[in-house]
Amino acid sequence: MQQLRPFFPYYGSKWNVARYYPKPDYDLVIEPFAGSAGYSLYYGSPRVRLFDKDPILVGVWSYLLRVTSKEIFALPDLLTVGDSVDNYDLPQEAKWLIGFWLNRGSASPKKSRTAYSARTDRSQLTWGPRAKARIIEQLGALSGWSIELGGYEGAQDEEATWFVDPPYVEKGKFYRHNQVDYALPGGVGALAERASHRLRRAKCHLASI
Ligand SMILES: C[S@@+](CC[C@H](N)C(=O)[O-])C[C@H]1O[C@@H](n2cnc3c(N)ncnc32)[C@H](O)[C@@H]1O
Repeated sequence: MQQLRPFFPYYGSKWNVARYYPKPDYDLVIEPFAGSAGYSLYYGSPRVRLFDKDPILVGVWSYLLRVTSKEIFALPDLLTVGDSVDNYDLPQEAKWLIGFWLNRGSASPKKSRTAYSARTDRSQLTWGPRAKARIIEQLGALSGWSIELGGYEGAQDEEATWFVDPPYVEKGKFYRHNQVDYALPGGVGALAERASHRLRRAKCHLASI
């Protein structure tokens, strides 16, 4: 599986720390709190099911799952400080995608290029031709991915590697959706219960080999 790089920067992305988590055991990865899906990208998972409650984030992923390389290539580079996505006739989701790049490490997209987001001194990628090239290069790897707008409880119980990364308790206030009811039927508590049941079954299986 070929490693993929982030399609956009996002607050709380796990891409940089994914190497500290175990590799997926299954081809299918489910992320019930998707964000920018850092874990699935890092391990280049071919089949991924994403769920997130944030319509902006889901809009960006839906756009990435349907957009063509030609459309990405045609997006404006916004290299001049002060230039804004609103100066261009673009789909809203494209404006959000660019906006996450203009507001690195944030949970909210920005509209215009600032001097701060134009700096290149930290060798971080900013929005422009190189970011577009990265997206274009990787689009084909998303053919087995899907995204659904909704709470984590919409993720069905399936044999897969689950990467569960809910909003932080304190710092979660930066997300548009940060209240998680863990007691919902089919909620994280139930997920954990099913996972430990599976683990027990797997251990029994191993013990009987
Ligand atoms: C810590 S971030 C996930 C970061 C992600 N692992 C990454 O690599 O970018 C948590 C995500 O959960 C989403 N979220 C908050 N409440 C949710 C809920 N009840 N169900 C599903 N997603 C939710 C937020 O919108 C946010 O994108």
